[in-house]
Amino acid sequence: MIEVSAPGKLYIAGEYAVVEPGHPAIIVAVDQFISVTIESATKNGSIQSAQYSDLPIRWTRKNGVLVLDHRDNPFHYILEAIRLTEKYAQEQGRLLAFYHLKVRSELDNSNGRKYGLGSSGAVTVATVKALNVFYDLEMDTLTQFKIAALAHLAVQGNGSCGDIAASCYGGWIAFSTFDSLWIKEKQSKWSLSALLDAEWPKLSIQPLDTPKDLRLLIGWTGSPASTSDLVDQVNQSREHEEHSYQSFLNESRECVEKMILGFQTQNIPMIKQMITRNRQLLASLATTTGVIIETPALKKLCDLAEKSGGAAKSSGAGGGDCGIVITDKKTGILPLMSLWEKAEITPLPLHVYHYPKGGN
Ligand code: PMV
Ligand code: MG
Repeated sequence: MIEVSAPGKLYIAGEYAVVEPGHPAIIVAVDQFISVTIESATKNGSIQSAQYSDLPIRWTRKNGVLVLDHRDNPFHYILEAIRLTEKYAQEQGRLLAFYHLKVRSELDNSNGRKYGLGSSGAVTVATVKALNVFYDLEMDTLTQFKIAALAHLAVQGNGSCGDIAASCYGGWIAFSTFDSLWIKEKQSKWSLSALLDAEWPKLSIQPLDTPKDLRLLIGWTGSPASTSDLVDQVNQSREHEEHSYQSFLNESRECVEKMILGFQTQNIPMIKQMITRNRQLLASLATTTGVIIETPALKKLCDLAEKSGGAAKSSGAGGGDCGIVITDKKTGILPLMSLWEKAEITPLPLHVYHYPKGGN
């Protein structure tokens, strides 16, 4: 039996702007995992995941017709990851086989995406990793990222794939997404192997070292949020606000580039300053688009953290899920923990996850 796992993630900075190529985000992998096991089978295969059973499927109406929104449904990510990895396996001359694939997740509970730690990204990565072993494909980390990103893009359509990168590489990364129009054009002309071998325009994934005294705290609001839905909402409203959206993109890029410099020069005050700046930039994006990124619970979480000497912001698309706090290890955390407790914010005792050296 083959068993692999892929970690969940949290966005630290650069959200929303990162869906545009060339705009960086900082993302971190956390030590909660999705594992996939594969066992050889004969004649019939199966796919099993507790993620699927109780999950509500959102739907909407287009031109009067009910349309299911599959983007929050892990099953579609698994199927697309299988389809693409098997296509690559065939191009590499492998014979396709039957298997039983089982998913176990620490990132969801039966109500769906409980913490917003990126279960759709992690399940896509774990499926690609498992089949990489099953078909003995020897894909390197970047190739696995590319296959998982293509699978994720086919289902979600509007994401940056930063969650996929964090799950593939582990640790802290600076990430800028690829030009998805270029990918779509090449996808219709090239073999999958040729597309995976090519350099993808604008894609950049850079591991970051962290200052020794940097501390990351995570607070959970208890209410779930849908990333794909929030990104849709921002996309719809930005059309009327093109000028402010462009300034948001430029300012976010500048802010995250300074934060990356803060990591490279071990400068915690600079990182904290840029976290606070990014919080303001997201607040102005929320005002121009009318999308609620920092909910009242996230605001409380951040304000209390700032009062206790940290720099804080919503993580990812916001609208619920988690907020992050950067402090230094000399600042005690107990006062903030009791303030959070009174405000019904749950601290999540997660750690940054690094893959063991020499193998993901
Ligand atoms: O809410 P999360 O953790 O899934 O993060 C979404 C981050 C966005 O930049 C808003 C979207 C994306 O795909 O990068
Ligand atoms: Mg989220």
